[in-house]
Amino acid sequence: MEARFWHQKWEQGEIGFHQSEVNPWLQAHLSSLNLPSGARVFLPLCGKTLDIAWLLAQGNRVVGVELSELAIQALFEHLALRPQIVRRDNLIHYSAQNIEIFVGDIFALTTEHLGAVDAVYDRAALVAMPPATRPLYAAQTSAISQGAPQLLVTYEYDQSLRAGPPFSVGATEIAQIFGSAYDLLPLAHSPVTNSQFKSAAEVVWHLQAKGGGFTLDGKEGHLSI
Ligand SMILES: C[S@@+](CC[C@H](N)C(=O)[O-])C[C@H]1O[C@@H](n2cnc3c(N)ncnc32)[C@H](O)[C@@H]1O
Repeated sequence: MEARFWHQKWEQGEIGFHQSEVNPWLQAHLSSLNLPSGARVFLPLCGKTLDIAWLLAQGNRVVGVELSELAIQALFEHLALRPQIVRRDNLIHYSAQNIEIFVGDIFALTTEHLGAVDAVYDRAALVAMPPATRPLYAAQTSAISQGAPQLLVTYEYDQSLRAGPPFSVGATEIAQIFGSAYDLLPLAHSPVTNSQFKSAAEVVWHLQAKGGGFTLDGKEGHLSI
């Protein structure tokens, strides 16, 4: 999608993707990443998600990137934080206490901008990208996070029934775009009851950089497709 598409969504308040509750998959599965205390968690395409407040309340630090400055103004307002705002290259850097958000295009964000992160949390980010952009997005996220583990929430549904976003991104594609760099473990697969999607499912993945000795609750990291 072009930037204009998303700016219009925010300007017109068409943000059905924004959840009024903290994402239950985040709450249930963040611990599987075994993060250190005070972990720095990167949220690509973060919008104004309430997940940020939850991550901060758990003692984490948060860094995000988001195209819409309207979204980020609303986010800081909701957090009751007054940000410092500084231009950095083609991005605008909002920061306060344990939170930093880059306003701009994720493809303009470099490792130097982002700094070290302990994990990536992707909810409605990969699935917001059209098919041709998803391999580039996966490579960019992996590169700038330097292979940090990821908690990734995707949708699977019959794409012929509805155009994205959100797009359907199944296990085969996850393996194609992330499988050379990460071990992939599906953590949860849950039906979504939403008339727009008919038989849709939400799938939660744990991505761990290869060679990281990946085990979870005694299970080997693996992918079956
Ligand atoms: C489907 S929404 C998800 C927002 C958030 N993750 C959530 O769960 O509420 C996708 C967001 O990505 C932003 N976005 C789209 N393309 C982007 C890009 N190239 N760089 C940064 N943000 C982008 C949009 O403005 C939108 O807020």
